[in-house]
Amino acid sequence: MDPKVLETMYAEVESEFQRSTYPAGFPALPDLPAARYFDPEFHRLEMDHVFRKTWLCVGHASQLPQQGSYRLFEQFDQSIILSRGSDDTIRAFRNACRHRGSALVTETEGVAKRFICPYHAWGYSSEGELKSVPEVHNFACLNKADKPLLQVRCDTWHGFIFINFDEQAGPLADFLGPLTGQIDDFPIDQMVVKRTLDVEIDCNWKTAYDNFLEIYHVNTVHAKTLSPYLESKSFTISLFEGGHARFVTRKRGGQSFFSAGHDAAAPDDFTTRFKDHVFALPCFPNSFTALDPVGFNWQSFWPKGPDKMVMSNMFMGWKRDDDDDRAFWDGMMANQKTVLAEDIGLFPTIQRSYQQGDIRDVVLSFQEQFIYWYNEEIDRRIGVDNVPPALRVQPLLAAHVKG
Ligand code: FES
Ligand SMILES: [Fe+2]
Repeated sequence: MDPKVLETMYAEVESEFQRSTYPAGFPALPDLPAARYFDPEFHRLEMDHVFRKTWLCVGHASQLPQQGSYRLFEQFDQSIILSRGSDDTIRAFRNACRHRGSALVTETEGVAKRFICPYHAWGYSSEGELKSVPEVHNFACLNKADKPLLQVRCDTWHGFIFINFDEQAGPLADFLGPLTGQIDDFPIDQMVVKRTLDVEIDCNWKTAYDNFLEIYHVNTVHAKTLSPYLESKSFTISLFEGGHARFVTRKRGGQSFFSAGHDAAAPDDFTTRFKDHVFALPCFPNSFTALDPVGFNWQSFWPKGPDKMVMSNMFMGWKRDDDDDRAFWDGMMANQKTVLAEDIGLFPTIQRSYQQGDIRDVVLSFQEQFIYWYNEEIDRRIGVDNVPPALRVQPLLAAHVKG
């Protein structure tokens, strides 16, 4: 990162740390309508205009280690095969056979030269071409070239796999443009997925996502775990175009709660900005990560109906596989699960308050501004005229975007 940009950023973090009054010139944030967190019609709008039209992070290239590796992505009623072809390209296919629609792949991951349909055994290559049809003479005019697996747009960013169901959407690089440069000096390409953890929770996807977008709760919820390691008052938010952002928080003593006292074998020349600070990147619409040289969790928050969701965690660590590394990751996972459990227990209680009408308006502070910002973006994506008037979020923060 440009030293000048870095200097400005550190100055902002210091000034945030010192701040003791509401920032002059920053608007008072109106309350969010709680119905956005349970209304079935609003949920449908989110599915149609956000989840089916935005780039979504669905995995990491290291989960498809060799040609022929495949993996199923199954969230919000979608079933998608992620496949590494014999040309090393990662593609995404709808998991639906072109004959009569049976799911082709039922194993969650594996390696195969061919995908063979379990119904009538049509066979497809890792690149999606229809290769074999039993008793082909019984089909009057079947041209195999006309029936490849249906492809969904797929691209990668620093190894993270993104898909988009919308043929008309712009390129991934444009979508992530505001985040470009934020992690160029983090040697992320040397990382692999070490562990994964999916947790189903009885709440709206945003009820869970919101929790990871502010640091206000850390001193209470994580008093004995994260709080001693983070200078939470220094939490500095930069809103970016497109519903993204960057959060920078100074660490206390350069330590991480997650390392469990172990050395994580990060590269020696690791830039100090990541050792002394936590750089967190919320990525619209539903991903979040807080970069840490000891390893970090890339989270995605998937809707499963208006009041159910799945939190997917991909734990990223260094390419290495030995006893020390496994011991490190056992400790890391124990700590990650401790912290996640501290958060997760609260979500269904929040959901109940919204859904029962106990709480009709969600109150947000300056330090919770990103929650407001990505909700603004959701309405922009849906088209504000399509959002029921009582559920709309007034656009306010565009003037406070930094990148
Ligand atoms: S549905 Fe797949 S071969 Fe018939
Ligand atoms: Fe938390």
